This record gives sequence, C-alpha cells and structure tokens, in this order.
Amino acid sequence: MRIILFAGKGGVGKTSISAASGVACAKKGLKTLIMSLDAAHSLVDSFDLDKTLMDRNRGKPLRVAKNLSIQEVDVQEEITKNWGDVHKYISTLLNISGIDEVLAEELAILPGMEEVSSLLYINRYVAQKRYDVILLDCAPTGESIRFVSIPTSLEWYMKKLFNVERRIVKVARPITKRLYEVPLPGDEYFANIQRLFDRLEGVDSILSNPNITTVRLITNPEKIILKETQRAYMYFSLYKMCIDAIVINRIFPDAVNNGYFARWKETQDRYIKETEQLFSPIPVFKVPMLKDQVVGMGELSKLAIEIYGARSPEEILYADTPYTFRKVGKDYFLDIKIPFLTKKEVELSKRNEELIVRIGGFKRHVLLPRNIAARQPSGAKIEHGKVIIKFGGKHGP
Ligand SMILES: Nc1ncnc2c1ncn2[C@@H]1O[C@H](COP(=O)(O)OP(=O)(O)O)[C@@H](O)[C@H]1O
Ligand SMILES: [Mg+2]
Repeated sequence: MRIILFAGKGGVGKTSISAASGVACAKKGLKTLIMSLDAAHSLVDSFDLDKTLMDRNRGKPLRVAKNLSIQEVDVQEEITKNWGDVHKYISTLLNISGIDEVLAEELAILPGMEEVSSLLYINRYVAQKRYDVILLDCAPTGESIRFVSIPTSLEWYMKKLFNVERRIVKVARPITKRLYEVPLPGDEYFANIQRLFDRLEGVDSILSNPNITTVRLITNPEKIILKETQRAYMYFSLYKMCIDAIVINRIFPDAVNNGYFARWKETQDRYIKETEQLFSPIPVFKVPMLKDQVVGMGELSKLAIEIYGARSPEEILYADTPYTFRKVGKDYFLDIKIPFLTKKEVELSKRNEELIVRIGGFKRHVLLPRNIAARQPSGAKIEHGKVIIKFGGKHGP
C-alpha cells in the first residue's frame, strides 16, 4: 500500500503530475486511485472527461481506465453524511445571529470539514485494502498543510478540550436555556464529533509512516515558487512526513535559448541549480514544458515518462528525513543529516527566517518555523553524521 501526496503552489502542475503518475501506476497493473484534495477540483479536466459524469457520481470514485479511478470529494454530500449534527448546530447558531438561512448553511461549512472527509476516505480505503496506490492531488500549500495537521490538532482537541466542553455544557444548559435564546450544542453534536474522531483513528500513523506515505513537492524554476517549496518542505518536516522527491516542472527546452525566452531560460537554469543544492540528497526530477497543455490519457502518459523515466512512480524514492526539529525543555534543536561528513567546523548565519549552515564546501539553507526563527542559534555540534544546532532564548528587538 502506498500513499503519495503531490503538493506545491497553485499552477505548478500538481494535478497534471498526480494524474500522470496515476496513469503510469495503473498501466503497471496496480489498483490506483487519484483523489483530489483541492476544492477547485480539476482532475476531470485533466483526464478530459465530461464534468456532469462526476457530478452524477456525487463525489465517489469514478473509474477512468483499467485499474484507475479518480475521486473528487463533494463537500455538500460529505457534510450531510459526516457532519450532520455539527453542521446543523452551527448553522442554527449563525441563523439566530441574524444571518440569512441559506448563507448560514454555507458559512457553517467550517474550514477543515472537507479535509476531514478526505481523511475518512483514506482511512477506510487503507483498512479495506481497496487500492494499491492512492495519489493525493493536494490543494495549494497552505491548505494541504492544514490537511496533514488535522489529525494532530483533532487529537489535541479531543484530549484537552472536548470533555471539558462537554461537561461545561451539561452544567450550563439548564441555566442558559432560561436566559438566552442561543442554544448550546446538544448531545448529538458531541456524539457526532466523537464518532468522526473514532473513524479517523489511525490515519495519523498512516500519514506519518514513511513506508506508506511520502510527499512529492512540485515546483517550477522561479524564485517565488522555490521559496514556497522550501516553506512546504519545512512544514511537512514538522509533521514528520517523508519528502521523497522534488519535481521541477515546466522547464523550457534548450530550443528557446536565444529567442524571446532567452532570459527566462537563464533564470530557470539558475533556479534549477539552486533547487538541487537546497534539497540534496533528495532526488530532484526535471520535467520539461511540453509542446502543449497536458490533457487526456495520451498526454498524461507522455508526461509520466518525462517525470520518472525508467523509475516507477509508486517507488519510495527517498527514505530519510534530512532534517528534523526537536524541542527539549526550553531549547529548540535542529538536526541535519549530512552523509560523509568529515569537517568539524560549522559556520552558522541567520537571515530573517532562514538559517544558513556552512560546513567546508557544503552549504544548506533551512527555512525555520516561526517560534525558532525568533531565536538565535547558540551553537552547533557534529555527532553521528548529524549536525545538531541549538537555538537558545529569544533575541533581537
Ligand atoms: N510539463 C508541462 N508541460 C506543459 N503544460 C503543463 C505541464 N505541467 C502542467 N501543465 C499545464 O499547466 C496548467 C496547470 O497545471 P495543473 O496540473 O493544473 O497545476 P496545479 O494542479 O498545480 O494547479 C495545466 O493547463 C496543465 O496542462
Ligand atoms: Mg490542481
């Protein structure tokens, strides 16, 4: 069983690359599902299918070829199915506060509900062993981070808040009923949340198991997109997910060397090099800009060959986490694995949220999470092929 997330900024090629990977997996005889996590679903378009086909299918998997299905989760459908009582309660609340009923129902779709619905599917498919490969066409970076963070936050909520909230409501209900018009959530509301939580059980360990789940970051050779790729890398690392490949998509061919796109070509070359340096030793795949947009089975097959060459999409392409953040007591640590480390001198410099680590000819830029970026590195040591960098108390203005 394999789960692969394709993540990155909007427009870089996530949908095309997940679709292409799916086509290649299915051709090898693997039972494959491509699932869209982007509310602005575009898998159907990528496969050049009729949109009404999907609408009629109401967000269930749709078979598009031998061994290959695609799924675009239908929020409305999922809300009624999974969130009935929670949704009802919140929309009543909004409606009471004077918001029109239709709008209240729409607003009561909380951020996260859609992601939870997809997680429920994943959990179920894994339990049923229904597919060999599940490919997740993620929403743009920010939202896909929320997706992977949901199991952790939900667990926190259930452990720390849920029961407290439930008890408070029990005590307060008889009193508030007499005083206010605003209803407190009923038992069904809590039962609903509890039920959802139970059904999500285990999805966390599926997503953070590097033998099952890996993330592929899709990027383009441009400054701003590369920056976002670094940020995505940091966040997925924080959630202990394994990034097994970086795909640089939309690279101009050499043929554009001296025409209108000459400058673009130079820029791209520069950022391709930089991307390779930044993410080594994670494999970086380079994919050219094809002659036309990638639509339909035939084009997707071609794209798959451009991406993977002789390799298989379902392979685990890299099995290590090059860096991890830890907190011990009040201090934060960053561990960076560097193979074949011989030098003993570590040079650290920090520019805003970015830490630059230099060891001899080796240089690595690491984007820091917010609470670490507010601190200064206070020392580094080399141990067991790892550079361990310590961040002390808060500094600066
Ligand atoms: N390597 C490529 N060559 C040519 N066109 C591409 C390539 N990759 C993506 N495209 C096109 O770029 C557009 C955006 O790609 P898409 O996969 O939808 O990006 P995302 O899902 O990241 O928003 C689509 O029209 C797609 O056909
Ligand atoms: Mg897309």
